[in-house]
Amino acid sequence: MNIELENVCKIYNQGKANEVKALDAVSLSVEPQTMVCLRGASGSGKSTLLSIIGCVFPPTSGKASVAGKQISRLPARFLGLYRRQVIGFIFQKFNVLPELSVLDNITLPLLPLGISPAARRLRAEPLLDKLSISHRRNFPAGEISGGELQRVAIARALINDPPFLLADEPTAHLDSKLSLEFMEIVSDLKASGKTIVIASHDPLVTDHRNVDSVIDIHDGCIAH
Ligand SMILES: Nc1ncnc2c1ncn2[C@@H]1O[C@H](COP(=O)(O)OP(=O)(O)OP(=O)(O)O)[C@@H](O)[C@H]1O
Ligand SMILES: [Mg+2]
Repeated sequence: MNIELENVCKIYNQGKANEVKALDAVSLSVEPQTMVCLRGASGSGKSTLLSIIGCVFPPTSGKASVAGKQISRLPARFLGLYRRQVIGFIFQKFNVLPELSVLDNITLPLLPLGISPAARRLRAEPLLDKLSISHRRNFPAGEISGGELQRVAIARALINDPPFLLADEPTAHLDSKLSLEFMEIVSDLKASGKTIVIASHDPLVTDHRNVDSVIDIHDGCIAH
């Protein structure tokens, strides 16, 4: 269950006046059951790299494989299917729907799978417990605290039990206590066998004792 990138480039708007080379010949590997940070200034390419690892879009060129599958040339439909099987994604702004309940937010990724509402609730129970948000299950997500919102986003990323958990600047909207709490939660997930990749320039994240390696990105290149 590892991630391998070889000479990966990503060019947005290729051939147009607004062309941007966001990643330039990036090679890296992430070992299974480790926690890795992607660190770099704003615009350095962290989110782009995370999106390729997370099977959101393929690289423009180069080779990328996730859990043994070459994703570089998969058609978009198959890439999306594969993403739903192997990737849990935590977004910077959590992307939680405020009018839906906590439970409905967490079980959202199960909707396309045609699982019954009762079965969806059952799948969510252990996660609600594990992340200490059981008492908020029927609250609209718009009416809970920032730390609880973060835990809803984590639970939603985990509902399909993916081997990989990716997080884009997960502590950007959290105070230091909640940031450390986030790191404790992902440390437990690593111990339970998940592989974690976090894009962040927050020292509370990058310097955390359970982070196995930090990969520095400058202008789309990995610093060696
Ligand atoms: N959809 C897009 N279309 C065109 N250019 C883009 C797109 N997304 C990102 N870029 C450009 O690609 C480069 C890398 O962006 P990216 O979002 O990966 O950086 P980042 O390291 O995540 O930055 P931040 O810390 O601000 O989130 C930037 O120059 C950015 O402007
Ligand atoms: Mg970003």
